[in-house]
Amino acid sequence: MATPAGVDEICIRIERPDDVATIQRITGQAFAQVAHASGSEARIIDSLREAGVLLSWVAESAEGGVVGQVSLSPVWIGDSSEGWFGLGPIAVDPQYQRRGVGSRLVETAMSYLRSIGACGCILIGDPGWYRRFGFLPAPDMHFAEVSAPWLMVLPFVEDWPRGEVHYHPAFMSALA
Ligand SMILES: CC(C)(COP(=O)(O)OP(=O)(O)OC[C@H]1O[C@@H](n2cnc3c(N)ncnc32)[C@H](O)[C@@H]1OP(=O)(O)O)[C@@H](O)C(=O)NCCC(=O)NCCS
Repeated sequence: MATPAGVDEICIRIERPDDVATIQRITGQAFAQVAHASGSEARIIDSLREAGVLLSWVAESAEGGVVGQVSLSPVWIGDSSEGWFGLGPIAVDPQYQRRGVGSRLVETAMSYLRSIGACGCILIGDPGWYRRFGFLPAPDMHFAEVSAPWLMVLPFVEDWPRGEVHYHPAFMSALA
């Protein structure tokens, strides 16, 4: 059996149309290991893509092909205007986890948001992992019944909004 590639052999690039089936498979396999997963993660990515609002990068290894993917999509918070994004879903092929691939995907997505002058990024996830990228528990924000510490924010501006987080309708329709 081939040894999984080290992080140096991984390149991060924007997704291509021929990555779609692999992204669906990896997302399904990775979230199958997660107790609280909704099972709708791959559907959310497809729905955002169909709506034309998905920003998606894949991690590609020389040997293993595409082994991970991260999604960004627009969100609105309270009465905020444009400029906020939600990170997720993000998934790494279980065989390639704990080798830094997920970290590189998150860092790439955040570098991109900074480069376009975005206001910031929110996510729902495990603070134990996301704190290392600068995400903070989001005070006074909520999404349905989720709030801090699971609802996290990485602001790129000083004044950031508070209130209800609204994902794009394409995200919400795939959750249903
Ligand atoms: C979360 C995920 C994308 C991380 O990818 P990865 O390539 O394994 O991450 P990295 O190798 O860059 O980082 C690994 C580190 O993150 C930690 N980590 C990974 N998932 C974690 C979690 N859910 N909670 C806390 N820590 C986590 C590991 O313990 C490891 O810590 P260490 O560096 O101190 O040893 C991957 O584990 C995955 O696909 N999980 C299933 C899907 C999922 O849970 N997605 C996120 C939903 S919010």
